[in-house]
Amino acid sequence: MATLKSISALFVFLLLISCSSASHGKRIRDRRPCKRLVFYFHDILYNGKNAKNATAAIVAAPSWGNRTILAGQDHFGDVVVFDDPITLDNNLHSTHVGRAQGFYVYDRKEIFTSWLAFSFVFNSTDHKGSISFAGADPIMNKTRDISVIGGTGDFFMARGIATLMTDAFEGEVYFRLRVDIKLYECW
Ligand SMILES: *[C@@H]1O[C@H](CO)[C@@H](O)[C@H](O)[C@H]1NC(C)=O
Ligand SMILES: *[C@@H]1O[C@H](CO)[C@@H](O)[C@H](O)[C@H]1NC(C)=O
Ligand SMILES: *[C@@H]1O[C@H](CO)[C@@H](O)[C@H](O)[C@H]1NC(C)=O
Ligand SMILES: *[C@@H]1O[C@H](CO)[C@@H](O)[C@H](O)[C@H]1NC(C)=O
Repeated sequence: MATLKSISALFVFLLLISCSSASHGKRIRDRRPCKRLVFYFHDILYNGKNAKNATAAIVAAPSWGNRTILAGQDHFGDVVVFDDPITLDNNLHSTHVGRAQGFYVYDRKEIFTSWLAFSFVFNSTDHKGSISFAGADPIMNKTRDISVIGGTGDFFMARGIATLMTDAFEGEVYFRLRVDIKLYECW
């Protein structure tokens, strides 16, 4: 009797293991975004001459630099705060559908790399709410993924990945990023 019990317990145990590993594999294979959105945002960095135009400013610099011009050594140590317009296409002058607000920190001396922390803030008829992003941005890579760490309003509890691509880069004053947002959790 005791052996029968332990054999059936073993059987249940093995069944559980096979079920959980099978569903785990399936879950990874079947992953498709529940929502996909593409936006562009435009960053115009203050350079001492464009105070009216600028949407971003250096707010901290290492002691060998200053807050007007990005520092040498791949801008290591510079911290930039931004409030950038978001558009649906790559034209700065298209309708602004929201703002990208946050900051980036240049965090490597040997190559252009930054760390991004910002939100897309929407208040239009199409979207209300925000999506928050954070992550390492190896700028020299054609595309790079950062995390979608949350959202509010229409994007309540959003989770996923945003693939960034530098769509334009003009000197050290203007750049435009294409943001391909793939949400894997939608409510
Ligand atoms: C405003 O920003 C754009 C975008 O790069 C730039 O081409 C233009 O020269 C700027 N205008 C002024 C007045 O700074
Ligand atoms: C800031 O630093 C740059 C060189 O990195 C220099 O050309 C510029 O004159 C400096 N500006 C100020 C206001 O110190
Ligand atoms: C969103 O837009 C509406 C209508 O323009 C305005 O009344 C409201 O204050 C805005 N909300 C925020 C958070 O900006
Ligand atoms: C960036 O690109 C390099 C070379 O193409 C590649 O080896 C590396 O994995 C990429 N890194 C990220 C984070 O995408």
